[in-house]
Amino acid sequence: MTRILHFTDAHLRWNQPGSADNPARLSREMPSILARLADQIPKLRPDAIVMTGDLLDVPNDVLVGAPDDGRAMDAWRCEIDADFQIFKDWFERTGVPWLAVPGNHDDEDAFRRVFGEPPIYTDIAGLRFFTYWDELGPDRQPHRSGARQSLFEAALTAPEHDLPQVHLQHYMIDPPTRARGWNYEYRNAAQMKRELDRSGRVRAILSGHYHPGSLAHGEDGLIHSLPPAFSESPHFFRLYDVGSTGEIKIQELAVV
Ligand SMILES: [Fe+2]
Repeated sequence: MTRILHFTDAHLRWNQPGSADNPARLSREMPSILARLADQIPKLRPDAIVMTGDLLDVPNDVLVGAPDDGRAMDAWRCEIDADFQIFKDWFERTGVPWLAVPGNHDDEDAFRRVFGEPPIYTDIAGLRFFTYWDELGPDRQPHRSGARQSLFEAALTAPEHDLPQVHLQHYMIDPPTRARGWNYEYRNAAQMKRELDRSGRVRAILSGHYHPGSLAHGEDGLIHSLPPAFSESPHFFRLYDVGSTGEIKIQELAVV
């Protein structure tokens, strides 16, 4: 059995000024909430910890390179790097293998500076993890293209990847979800879902982005799991116990 701890959408700001526009996202409380989660980890004994994006809440005007507060981008860059470093130090201190992907509120260049290039894959405790850094289109619908789409196809079909897999990405594949006028699932989500079901290799699609959270089931026990946003009280996360024959037990817990 392999146990994965999954949380998403922390929207942290600490060195960056201010807080998320949505007051439910407790950006400035995240360092102390993360410390409380860290206290629970030895008892939960996960084999891997995964975070599926929006580690930070970088303001949109800063993401497009034109800070509304008139400060230089360099000042923001230093603060964003320092906020990512809080997360990196936190992961390292858990002593557990970990993986993270950027979300649409993270600055991808800064994410790369602090965390490095994404691995092609990472093997942990008998599972092969793939991490996808996808993006939003101009219509705010997520899409996967180019090298990431090629990696997805290789994961599902190449002989060297014929292993039980877990895929991490900020965006969701299933269920199709439309809220506030936006599609939260990938542009070609129906096809991605069909290919996943056909491959039979993937145990779990772990995502973020849609803050209420969701859970859907594919073929052969495959789960599409998206915990409620960690930034919002009561700070949920999920534990998955992946059995050797593919069955998965899911628990949703809150930080205590
Ligand atoms: Fe988010």
